[in-house]
Amino acid sequence: MCGIIGYCGPRDVVPLLIAGLKRMEYRGYDSAGIAVNDGSLRIVKDAGKVSNLEQLVRDAAVKGHSGIGHTRWATHGAPNQVNAHPHTDESASIALAHNGIIENYSSLRQELIRSGHTFVSDTDTETIAHLIEELYEGDLPHAVQKALRLIRGTYGLAIVSRHHPGMVIAARMGSPMVIGHGHGENFVASDPAAFLSMTREATYLEDGEMAVLTPDKVEYRTLSDEPIDKKLEQITYDIAAIEKGGFAHFMLKEICEQPQTVADSMRGRLLIEEGAVKFGGMAQAKEILSEAKRVIFLGCGTSWHAGLVGEYLFEELAGIPVEVEYSSEFRYRSPILEPGTIVFAISQSGETADTLAAIREAKRHGAPVFGICNVVGSAIARETDAGVFLHAGPEIGVASTKAFTSQITVLFMLALQMGRSRRVGAGRGRELVQQLKDIPQKISRILASREKIETIAHRYRDSNNFLYLGRGLNFPVALEGALKLKEISYVHAEGYPAAEMKHGPIALIDRDMPVVFIATHDGTYEKVISNIEEVRARGGRVLAIATEGDTEIVKRVDEVVYVPETDALLTPLLTVVPLQLLAYYMAVHRGCDVDQPRNLAKSVTVE
Ligand code: F6R
Repeated sequence: MCGIIGYCGPRDVVPLLIAGLKRMEYRGYDSAGIAVNDGSLRIVKDAGKVSNLEQLVRDAAVKGHSGIGHTRWATHGAPNQVNAHPHTDESASIALAHNGIIENYSSLRQELIRSGHTFVSDTDTETIAHLIEELYEGDLPHAVQKALRLIRGTYGLAIVSRHHPGMVIAARMGSPMVIGHGHGENFVASDPAAFLSMTREATYLEDGEMAVLTPDKVEYRTLSDEPIDKKLEQITYDIAAIEKGGFAHFMLKEICEQPQTVADSMRGRLLIEEGAVKFGGMAQAKEILSEAKRVIFLGCGTSWHAGLVGEYLFEELAGIPVEVEYSSEFRYRSPILEPGTIVFAISQSGETADTLAAIREAKRHGAPVFGICNVVGSAIARETDAGVFLHAGPEIGVASTKAFTSQITVLFMLALQMGRSRRVGAGRGRELVQQLKDIPQKISRILASREKIETIAHRYRDSNNFLYLGRGLNFPVALEGALKLKEISYVHAEGYPAAEMKHGPIALIDRDMPVVFIATHDGTYEKVISNIEEVRARGGRVLAIATEGDTEIVKRVDEVVYVPETDALLTPLLTVVPLQLLAYYMAVHRGCDVDQPRNLAKSVTVE
């Protein structure tokens, strides 16, 4: 979602802020701005891309050594110049950039208007700037603390004031903020990617904490002004992981990384001889896992789809009843979490507000909650009792790809671990571990058919509606394939269990509604073939994902992409890859902005 960068030190701040904002472009935004503070505030902001802002800043010849920058993803107010951040107070002495939503902004704004403040934007954020001004008595950190104590909602904030040149204040409540420590300079950002090329020494703010940065030091305090001791952490990921490395888009790079990322997710966790699995992060939860009677998966979007695959895996391998819940719905229900129910929260970013809220709800009911996250140090990783990291490396493309296959890899391993103490013998365990180990090279084989998938995408690029059908474990893959296409090519796509087609969607079938079937060799293959015939009989066009060696299917479909054979339980790790590529190439051939699709944000930190 929105991105924040702030800096104080000897460097020329403008190119640094612009570079930081560019690093966060992948998160999705619609406007951008900076405020430079060298005793007077210079603010440049506008709707549109950071490259547009860069030109505006150049034209305005803004220079300085401390300041803040922001990319905005509109929540309150249209994406235009006035609503873009940074926002200022009445006297334009304070400028701030905000991620999150202030829930009580309307009443605060009314009070401030009554005290004589004039507002110019439609945003909730502007209220914070006016409130700080109202409470300011010469001490900026104190004014910020007082203001934040009156605010309800979520925020990651970076604040500067012309009365305090060289100072940047950061604060967090529900929206990530990380402080980068340099030598004679300090950084703040909502995403460490923004300053990683300059320092790797960092601390993550917790909710209710603030940091006061000056070039020589960073002071950490609570909102009640108690000092906090924070330990410096090393950000370990490689800078190459946040660069495109010769690929046209991050999404393509991340699709192609999957042989590696899936291998990374299983690295050090497979016990080949025993046909079992071990997870360092779940060691202390062993008993809870072995006594679990019911599992709930929480997630949103792609992570929810991974949960659906997990449902099949856990039921099949561990014989445990599973429910998969949209995080956003779970928290507003009256969930029944009797003893023996355990909860897994699945999230790539570890910052999704809906999933965080659902975790808190599950904990309130006393359930043990475990995380399946990619981002180390994320809020979900910290708020769950224990968990498993994906180790897929930073996912920059807005459409989630490598995180999905890593989530399934981890869910498969968890299901196997729980299954081994219940109903899976050592022999079957060894077989499954071996099949899992072979998955990365099988994904590589699918990636080798990239060109063919591009040709298909080119052929179908003018289709505006698609149906995706699959059964069993490949039903969630159908949902995921449809979501990928919607997100980046803006093509309407629906996913269904193949057998459901005849209960309604069949009415849509004609030449203009291509149907993507996942028709791999498993227990439902024959039935899926019958569904293919039903589509053909109605003049529909069929694209099939089939198992290598299935030469029969060619006669019944218009296009076929093959995936290697594997255990039926592992097919989603293979079948999703051609669907990711199909969505990617459709978007490219329709001229869409693949890495920054309209209206979407990488991590959704608002509810
Ligand atoms: C789809 C996508 C989203 C996310 C969803 C949850 O490509 O990226 O649907 O999967 O917003 O995000 P995380 O996994 O970060 O909780």
